[in-house]
Amino acid sequence: MAATKTILRALAGETLDTPPIWMMRQAGRYLPEYRATRAEAGDFLSLCYNSDLAAEVTLQPIRRYGFDASILFADILLLPQALGADLWFVTGEGPRLSTVTGAADFAKLKGPSDVHEHLAPIYETVRILRRELPEETTLIGFAGAPWTVATYMIAGRGTPDQGPAHALKAEDRETFENVIDLLTDATIEYLSMQIEAGAEVVKLFDSWAGSLKGEDFRKYALEPAKTIISALKARHPDTPIITFPREAGDNYIGFAKATGADCVALDNSVSATWAAEHVQVDGCVQGNLASSHMVTGGQALVDETRAIVDAFSGGPHIFNLGHGITPDADPENVQLMIDTVRAKR
Ligand code: CP3
Repeated sequence: MAATKTILRALAGETLDTPPIWMMRQAGRYLPEYRATRAEAGDFLSLCYNSDLAAEVTLQPIRRYGFDASILFADILLLPQALGADLWFVTGEGPRLSTVTGAADFAKLKGPSDVHEHLAPIYETVRILRRELPEETTLIGFAGAPWTVATYMIAGRGTPDQGPAHALKAEDRETFENVIDLLTDATIEYLSMQIEAGAEVVKLFDSWAGSLKGEDFRKYALEPAKTIISALKARHPDTPIITFPREAGDNYIGFAKATGADCVALDNSVSATWAAEHVQVDGCVQGNLASSHMVTGGQALVDETRAIVDAFSGGPHIFNLGHGITPDADPENVQLMIDTVRAKR
């Protein structure tokens, strides 16, 4: 059956008069209703594993704004936790994990098929959402890409330059590649189960892809994405896949073709006119308004939103930010962005 939801039509390669729109981190701290539900849950991880409350926060931005898609509320670091890593969040600082610094740490991790019991509440959130979302809203599932998740597992926290992961790659390549391979296989299992539970699209977040250069980009960003996508396509041929090799620069060129992805999400370090010429020629793109406009608003937001819509108007496009919305964003600026994108309707 031909796709009818706008996002699925764009992902199938259709050029629409008005691009469908959703926003990374659309359920998040800039929304008062999110902050209230998070307080009720206790902390961030308790919210992720409480299926009813996780579904509730996923629905909040849909009710408020009527986005064309909703993204499952969870986190990319739940998968390493399911593999046996300790995980906690330090308020105001970010995630902390037990580290993987050599073969002995790697040996303690579980296998790719052992993750499902731990992740069962996430699959339940997906099932609730498929029942409760409006008919026209597409449900997107997601996982982190192996390299990005590995950078957190190896360092035990977020790092500005992914130094510890690059060091392990240089000093103990066998353990480093074992981590990448385990995450590749576990991600296939995790995303397959999200699709079986009702996710209609899945997205792979490679937030730190930009720190991989040359042959490293091919081996640790492109190849794992290709392996994950081909395994998912074999099991679920009708489920579109979005990849986000953030800050890949020239490596965005040809990425969809090389990996088999249906869409490449773009960060805002590349211009929309450049990306239309070099990336959108191969199919659907998503992006790429700077999230700082959600803080500053005004005419600059309107002008830049229009420029992005215009630049991508000749091909399939899903409007989004170039990265997640930040806690200091003004909810009214989100409405202004949506109104600007949909002005032609
Ligand atoms: O986009 C969505 O709304 C879906 C949910 C989602 C979250 N994190 C919720 C979240 C998704 C897709 C993610 C992805 C994620 N998580 C990434 C990749 C995308 C990116 O932003 O680069 C990464 C690197 C993480 C790891 C992570 N989670 C960090 C570094 C942090 C702390 C930084 C911060 O923003 O506070 C988180 C916490 C997190 N994940 C929050 C949310 C809404 C904030 C937690 C809170 O409520 O305190």
